[in-house]
Amino acid sequence: MAISSTPEGVSVSPRHVSFDVSEELKTLWHGNDAFRTAFFNALSLQFPDGEQQFINAVRLYRDKIKDPKLAQEIRGFIGQEALHSREHKHYNEALKARGYDIDALDERFSRHMAWVGNLPPSRQLAGTCGAEHYTAVLANAILKNPEWMQGATPTMRKLWRWHAIEETEHKSVAFDVYQHCVGNERLRRFVFLFVTYNFFKFTFLNTCSLLKTEGKLWSLKTWIGGINFLWGKPGVLRACLPEFLAYFRTGFHPWQQDNRQLLEASLNELDTDYQAS
Ligand SMILES: [Fe+2]
Ligand SMILES: [Fe+2]
Repeated sequence: MAISSTPEGVSVSPRHVSFDVSEELKTLWHGNDAFRTAFFNALSLQFPDGEQQFINAVRLYRDKIKDPKLAQEIRGFIGQEALHSREHKHYNEALKARGYDIDALDERFSRHMAWVGNLPPSRQLAGTCGAEHYTAVLANAILKNPEWMQGATPTMRKLWRWHAIEETEHKSVAFDVYQHCVGNERLRRFVFLFVTYNFFKFTFLNTCSLLKTEGKLWSLKTWIGGINFLWGKPGVLRACLPEFLAYFRTGFHPWQQDNRQLLEASLNELDTDYQAS
């Protein structure tokens, strides 16, 4: 029985690329703006362990998947997430050069992820679907609103767009595995509440810690700019809010946000980027 819902024309396979971001991360790479830089860096700090956990959760169920298309997409998903995890590990290592105490922030998040890794398999997979929803919605937003990355240094911009493209390509893979192997709608939504709480908690704590090192934690100007970026104009989180909440709808599916055209256009640009580098 075919259970993969990745649409025709979308392929899930890893691109073997790497990004040398060490020089750019010595700067406030996002337009010389302390808040924007800290916000994206705070997201990055959650990726190596987070994406490894996504892989672990899907692996718990992969033997149950007989649909060859979905089995192939699971391989692609694991490959993509493993490379994201690797590149964000390098990214986070490079952040140390700016004086951030990355080891302490990593330890705080690792403790949480160790707890997640001991949950029952169905909750781990539901958590992965919830977290993948956040990455998919943010990925769509980054691709759709290139001005949100305006002022970012060239390699950082490329890295975030590459990650956003692959998050879009594989956005329904863990979801399809969940629907087939667990399929509990209430659990899916219930676990999403916890994912939401933890995602915003760690993003906020990491942002604050990074701003503290910059000496900007108590800067009103920095926070006004930051709140504007997230909630005012352009309002990154405000714009994403309806899509985040769509996850609570009965019968939700990641491809109800059909962004294949945006994906295709972004892929063309990515190819040009690679040729240029
Ligand atoms: Fe990823
Ligand atoms: Fe992902």
